[in-house]
Amino acid sequence: MTPPLANKSPFITLEGGEGSGKSTQIKLLSQWLGDLGIDHVCTREPGGAPGAEQIRSLVLTGDVDRWTPMTEVLLYTAARSDHVERVITPALDSGRMVICDRFYDSSIAYQGAGRGVGVEKVRDLQKLVLGDLRPDLTLILDLPVQVGLGRAVSRETDKAAAEDRFERMDVSLHETFRRVFLEIAEQAPDRCVVIDADREVDDLQHILRGIIAQRFGLLEQA
Ligand code: TYD
Repeated sequence: MTPPLANKSPFITLEGGEGSGKSTQIKLLSQWLGDLGIDHVCTREPGGAPGAEQIRSLVLTGDVDRWTPMTEVLLYTAARSDHVERVITPALDSGRMVICDRFYDSSIAYQGAGRGVGVEKVRDLQKLVLGDLRPDLTLILDLPVQVGLGRAVSRETDKAAAEDRFERMDVSLHETFRRVFLEIAEQAPDRCVVIDADREVDDLQHILRGIIAQRFGLLEQA
């Protein structure tokens, strides 16, 4: 397999814990980019391509312990490889901006640290599979774990199921994900921007648009 070539147009990823609002923000970014006439693709992980979506249902359904941590990271990374080769790289090569809901930083936080595979092992695996492909910009939507989990639970329509879910959530694990995202940002300050996501949707959107516009000179182009 040939590793993907260097990016031709902006590749942006959004990362963050539960309830950080990534998908709502991506929808609003897409409307804005559309209004500016900027050709773009919004996609997500795990998934984003037909085969990768099949892997998504393997990893996100069933018992939490259905897979060993190593199998899990291999599945996420297999899905990513398919997604990159079939969707992300072709889109970038044809000059379209790509915005992706989660990417390899999630594997580092969730499987590397959270499930104990080891951050370095997961990093090495990403390199093996993706070569030099890396996002140009990673927006990390950061907020206190209790706020994020509370938001995620309040989205549930079935309140009894919501409470049950909340009780089963391991808060300290989510604290680990948050800490690792912040460490990743510290180690890659040219790529990552941490944004306090404990604010109103429109407010957060305004900030994200400002960062993207400035980083890629969008308003000058439009
Ligand atoms: P999803 O329902 O898309 O929710 P959200 O992204 O809004 O949290 O669930 C994706 C889940 O997959 C999420 O719990 C994080 C997890 N995940 C990993 O554990 N490793 C990965 O590499 C990726 C991409 C996601």
